[in-house]
Amino acid sequence: MLRRVLLLGSLLASSNAVSLKHHGASEQGSSQLSETVSVGCHQACTQLSATFGSAFHYPDNDQNFTIWDAKQQEVHPACRVEPSDANEVARVLDILVHHWCNFAVKGGGHSRHRDDSNSVAGVTIDLDRINNVEVSTDGTKARVGGGATTAKVYRDLDSHGLSFVGGRVGTVGVGGFTLGGGTSPFSNKYGLSLDNVFEYEVVLANGTITTVSDYDHPDLYFALRGGGNNFGIVTAFTVRTFSQGPVFTAATSYHNNQSEQVLDQVYDLWTGDELSSDVETAYDFYYAYSPQNDDFTLMGNQRYAKPIMNPPVFSNINEITPLTRSPRIATMGNMTGSPEPMGVTRNLFATLSVRPSRPFLTQALKIFSEEVKKIKSVKGLTPNFICYPIQKNAITAMKQRGGNALGIDTDGPLFLILISTAWTNASGDAAVNSMTENTVQRVKSAAEKLGVANRYRYINYASAAQTDEVFPGYGGENMQRLKQIQMAVDPKGVFTSKGLWRGFRKLL
Ligand SMILES: Cc1cc2nc3c(=O)[nH]c(=O)nc-3n(C[C@H](O)[C@H](O)[C@H](O)COP(=O)(O)OP(=O)(O)OC[C@H]3O[C@@H](n4cnc5c(N)ncnc54)[C@H](O)[C@@H]3O)c2cc1C
Ligand SMILES: *[C@@H]1O[C@H](CO)[C@@H](O)[C@H](O)[C@H]1NC(C)=O
Ligand SMILES: *[C@@H]1O[C@H](CO)[C@@H](O)[C@H](O)[C@H]1NC(C)=O
Ligand SMILES: *[C@@H]1O[C@H](CO)[C@@H](O)[C@H](O)[C@H]1NC(C)=O
Ligand SMILES: *[C@@H]1O[C@H](CO)[C@@H](O)[C@H](O)[C@H]1NC(C)=O
Ligand SMILES: *[C@@H]1O[C@H](CO)[C@@H](O)[C@H](O)[C@H]1NC(C)=O
Repeated sequence: MLRRVLLLGSLLASSNAVSLKHHGASEQGSSQLSETVSVGCHQACTQLSATFGSAFHYPDNDQNFTIWDAKQQEVHPACRVEPSDANEVARVLDILVHHWCNFAVKGGGHSRHRDDSNSVAGVTIDLDRINNVEVSTDGTKARVGGGATTAKVYRDLDSHGLSFVGGRVGTVGVGGFTLGGGTSPFSNKYGLSLDNVFEYEVVLANGTITTVSDYDHPDLYFALRGGGNNFGIVTAFTVRTFSQGPVFTAATSYHNNQSEQVLDQVYDLWTGDELSSDVETAYDFYYAYSPQNDDFTLMGNQRYAKPIMNPPVFSNINEITPLTRSPRIATMGNMTGSPEPMGVTRNLFATLSVRPSRPFLTQALKIFSEEVKKIKSVKGLTPNFICYPIQKNAITAMKQRGGNALGIDTDGPLFLILISTAWTNASGDAAVNSMTENTVQRVKSAAEKLGVANRYRYINYASAAQTDEVFPGYGGENMQRLKQIQMAVDPKGVFTSKGLWRGFRKLL
């Protein structure tokens, strides 16, 4: 079934090859999206160009534009515009709807599929200038621009001795991160990012700017907590801030023959009581293939939200001698500040979630290794099996202020799995796609056989091929409620796959 979808995709891509080559884009791994700029988009760009001056760019004069994934970097939009505030976003949207021109919205731009945040032959609405961080006088909240990056927010808050529920990598956008979920080193204490937003400033499909909170438009507030890019363009998030000093992180790596021993300890940590009681704690692991060594390595990140070297919660894990260990104490701004290379590697993410099972971890890593070994010849191959829990505390925190849209149906913990692969040449696209799909299918069957499968698919890690599983994974009731809210707030379907904002994981 999945293979058929892939085949269809590549057939359509090859029938598009002429127009793709004409635009100088890569001939491989493209989807069936048309690269031809419509008359409406030509007209919209002409009008935007007259209105936005130096905040407007045609792609042949936009060499400074970078975006994380090379497949998105290769995309040619009709034009790109950088609005500075909600009024300008509304003005852009009015022009696009008037000319019926398709578009994409870029927050931090960390998506992995064409058209997710760089528009294929339409207009890329780049929120990068909307990145202001304003801290409230009492220090309990900050108003964060919808295009701010994680590192910018951490750095601005560091200077006040504060922090927020942000991610692990500084270049990731608060926009996409928070609209989809947002798992953080602070989630064991405060919950996911989407459960720490008090208010959204949002531009609706008809160009209205509105403020959304649990008492002002509670339905839309529910929908924005997990609904992704289906409801509006968020120009500001008012988020919880809290006192926070420097934190401890230790990156560790282990020889493959130590993996089972380490997993025993990691499993005990994730499922034991100490994780819930010692809320400063977080731990995630990466099982990665290295072409240089032709072997797999288990890497664990120990995190503790206090400036304590080697906190006791990790003492059992630390009895296993790692190959390497780099402990560090720094502020979140410093910890996440180093820039990621942009537009260099091609990337694919896919995801699953499971209830805790120790045998599952062993079986899943074995399946992943077997599938990766089949595609070792892919250039620049860097595959990772990443896993960490959504902790019990984070699941409890989901019930605040009317609850979120994710529909997590367990008290937790729930293990999140991310199959994340980077590679360097389009000639590897098909192999990585099939490795990822085979791994997901087999890991899913293994979870089902062990009785630990879970319906939840994290939207921010889901592949395009998993689009149809994301919202059903929120539960039928939540999915229906989201669809009703979507249709009520966007009756023309501008933000749906049949409208103008078509990229990323669509509800309708
Ligand atoms: C290196 C890396 C590290 C990551 N680390 C973490 C992590 O620690 N925890 C975690 O939970 N996830 C993590 N992720 C996943 C991340 O949360 C998603 O990729 C997320 O969608 C990225 O958001 P973005 O704004 O950077 O990307 P974009 O591609 O700009 O946005 C993703 C989608 O959201 C939409 N969008 C963005 N901003 C807005 C807005 N203001 N209003 C309306 N729509 C908007 C876009 O249109 C797009 O469709 C990581 C991803 C990468 C690549
Ligand atoms: C690219 O950035 C550089 C340095 O900031 C600037 O001097 C140059 O004008 C920019 N080029 C374009 C085409 O915007
Ligand atoms: C694991 O591999 C390392 C490096 O090859 C080796 O030194 C060590 O003896 C091995 N340990 C076991 C238990 O096999
Ligand atoms: C963070 O970085 C700044 C600037 O480089 C430095 O002055 C400061 O000491 C660092 N602080 C911590 C706790 O890492
Ligand atoms: C990708 O691979 C093709 C064929 O193997 C090769 O011709 C091309 O130069 C490679 N491109 C890059 C960017 O390495
Ligand atoms: C825009 O849409 C919102 C949500 O449906 C609605 O409340 C509002 O009245 C609409 N505004 C206009 C001017 O049509």
